[in-house]
Amino acid sequence: MLSILFILASLGLLVHSLDKFSLQECGVERGCWAFPPNCTDETCDGLAKDVLLVDAGRYLAVGFSNDSMMGNDTVFECVFDQNGIGAAYISHNEATYNFQLLNASQEMIARSSADLEDGWMKCEIDLNLLSKEKVDEQERNLIPELQDDEWTLLFVRGLAIPETGEKIMHSLTPGELFPWSTGEKVRFCENCPDKFKTVIKMQQQQI
Ligand SMILES: *[C@@H]1O[C@H](CO)[C@@H](O)[C@H](O)[C@H]1NC(C)=O
Ligand SMILES: *[C@@H]1O[C@H](CO)[C@@H](O)[C@H](O)[C@H]1NC(C)=O
Ligand SMILES: *[C@@H]1O[C@H](CO)[C@@H](O)[C@H](O)[C@H]1NC(C)=O
Ligand SMILES: *[C@@H]1O[C@H](CO)[C@@H](O)[C@H](O)[C@H]1NC(C)=O
Repeated sequence: MLSILFILASLGLLVHSLDKFSLQECGVERGCWAFPPNCTDETCDGLAKDVLLVDAGRYLAVGFSNDSMMGNDTVFECVFDQNGIGAAYISHNEATYNFQLLNASQEMIARSSADLEDGWMKCEIDLNLLSKEKVDEQERNLIPELQDDEWTLLFVRGLAIPETGEKIMHSLTPGELFPWSTGEKVRFCENCPDKFKTVIKMQQQQI
């Protein structure tokens, strides 16, 4: 099976390295993108824990961008409702709106877990790329061949409407909820130099 495994982890609304996402694994067991630059296992978060008290839904997402702007991008996300129940989706992003690709989510996500535990958000999505051929045509046309290109990754997190889990657009003003993007492009492949690549160039910017 040709697949990509994403592991996104975040403390509250922020990325953090969990045991399963220790920096020590970076460049050895997996390629990584940890931030802010030069952070350690202890400092890769940095946001006050009071965000955990927000009684709301929240989401954690990674977008694949051809340029470094949001627009015509494919997004993999876990959305958590107010009870901490999470679900994984593939969605499509235009500059100012996003919609979930429900057929693609069902066909291409082979396995996923979305856990909110002790205030941590953790999202794992195992994507079967070969199943793309089974996806409804309209949705399929929105999903690029992820393995054939190199991508600017956008790491986005934000709040969701508690009752419905509908995502609220990420913050457009500077701050912790501003998206991070890689300053270099990343490939997903079984056998290429990028397999264990650790991303070191990154920025937090308006997109
Ligand atoms: C990160 O560490 C490298 C190597 O020590 C250094 O050159 C670079 O300036 C540091 N970057 C930041 C943002 O601190
Ligand atoms: C990426 O950008 C190039 C150049 O703008 C374009 O030709 C190509 O179709 C784009 N690919 C995707 C998957 O959007
Ligand atoms: C996805 O769409 C295809 C094509 O329309 C359809 O055959 C398939 O049953 C759909 N899958 C799900 C899980 O609904
Ligand atoms: C948008 O993305 C799709 C899927 O990768 C691609 O086929 C299409 O060419 C892109 N459209 C534009 C305008 O870049």
